Amino acid sequence: MPSVFIKTYGCQMNERDSEAVAAQLLARGYRLSPSEHGADVVLLNTCSVRDFAEQKAISKMQNLAGAGRHQDRPPLLGFMGCMAQSRGVQLATDQPEVRLVLGTQKIHRAADYIDDLLAGRQQQVVDTAEEARSQDAIRDHLPAAGAGRPVTAFVSIMQGCNQHCTFCIVPFTRGEERSRTIPDIVAEVNMLVSRGVREVTLLGQIVTSFGRREYPVLAGKSGFVQLLEAVQAVEGLDRIRFTSPHPKGYGEDLIGAFGRLSKLAEHAHLPVQSGSDTLLKRMHRGYTRERYLDLVRKLRATHEQMAVTTDIIVGFPGETDEDFERTLSLCEEVAFDQAYIFKYSPRRDTPAASMPNPVPQDLIEERHARLLALINRLASAKYQSLVGKTVEILVEGPSRKNATRFEGRTRDNRIVIFPGSERHRGHLIRVRVERAGAFTLYGDPAILGLEPPRPAVSEFPERDALPA
Ligand code: 5AD
Repeated sequence: MPSVFIKTYGCQMNERDSEAVAAQLLARGYRLSPSEHGADVVLLNTCSVRDFAEQKAISKMQNLAGAGRHQDRPPLLGFMGCMAQSRGVQLATDQPEVRLVLGTQKIHRAADYIDDLLAGRQQQVVDTAEEARSQDAIRDHLPAAGAGRPVTAFVSIMQGCNQHCTFCIVPFTRGEERSRTIPDIVAEVNMLVSRGVREVTLLGQIVTSFGRREYPVLAGKSGFVQLLEAVQAVEGLDRIRFTSPHPKGYGEDLIGAFGRLSKLAEHAHLPVQSGSDTLLKRMHRGYTRERYLDLVRKLRATHEQMAVTTDIIVGFPGETDEDFERTLSLCEEVAFDQAYIFKYSPRRDTPAASMPNPVPQDLIEERHARLLALINRLASAKYQSLVGKTVEILVEGPSRKNATRFEGRTRDNRIVIFPGSERHRGHLIRVRVERAGAFTLYGDPAILGLEPPRPAVSEFPERDALPA
């Protein structure tokens, strides 16, 4: 059967979409290829959030097409994801070797189209149409593969965005907000738990807007909090995370959920974008600096060890030195645990792209470097403060940095590397933090703190055989 390689750019939503396509193709008898070399089908799942991400995917496709010209059986090449949605047929016109362009609401059609193209029933497919209930289609997961089974999983709960921040292309690439149903999501989480998954991350473009139209507020609880409660009730699940939210989604009900729901991990990703009220207004973010700071205070009051991370854009049109200083001072004030810093990139059709006073590139670079140095200093202090403490981690598998060691994550989402083995996979264990590196902790298991194992899934009897 043909083999497929999918290269994913961008966010967790894209990773999840790629997994769903891979699972769908596997179920049809396709094989998954570990790389593009020798693959019969190569798909690039693209990101449009900045121009850089688009250019990377375009040049990758040019390389693939170029290499294909020297092959007896060149692979079938396709684009999917946000750039496929926003550029559509143009991608196939610019690069005639591209035979599939699959929009964000058509992900579930990938296997049908690939079948048709490989069988010669179609020569080229470009499908970027809208489709009702397409949010329900991202549900297939790759089957667990032996001892390497995943401990964590992504679950797509909604699609689209209605916020229309002036810099952002996402409402054009992902469409209007549409949510899945709570029973559907809970069924998916139950299925994952039966395969050994112990932590889920609920995904959406503005995940906190889940169910805004579909689930009316009930006893003061939004649709999203109703969903969190339903997922909390799934037996055998240990942790719940979600991304990416919008600060406006953190009402009292969600803040309260952090104190109330034992499985909701103590980490809030709160994209602030800027510390200047002038810019926040022009970005159409819908909150002020003061409201944001108030939200951080309330969240931190729910837990001693509440991590707060953020996204920041530098060089938004018209950003003055003073605006930028406001961003620096906000970062100091919040002392973020981590921040992703983005250089502003004009996106087609967005209001910010035609705003006056663009910031010169060298100034963007300079501000980026200054902010990065500050964020690194703040984050490093947080990591250092954990040395000597005992933390609970969920063991995910061999360390990606050093395969002779194992790694897990704390509830507040920090990676801890420790001398573990396969028998630890999928277990909550307590480790003492011995030292801190850049964004990594190194720990030693605190043996007495080992949690009793959850009843083993029959295919993994070794899970019962844990050390005392
Ligand atoms: N330029 C730079 N960064 C952007 N982001 C979104 N759009 C742009 C843009 N046009 C950043 C925001 C968002 C993150 C996912 O990407 O910070 O939170």
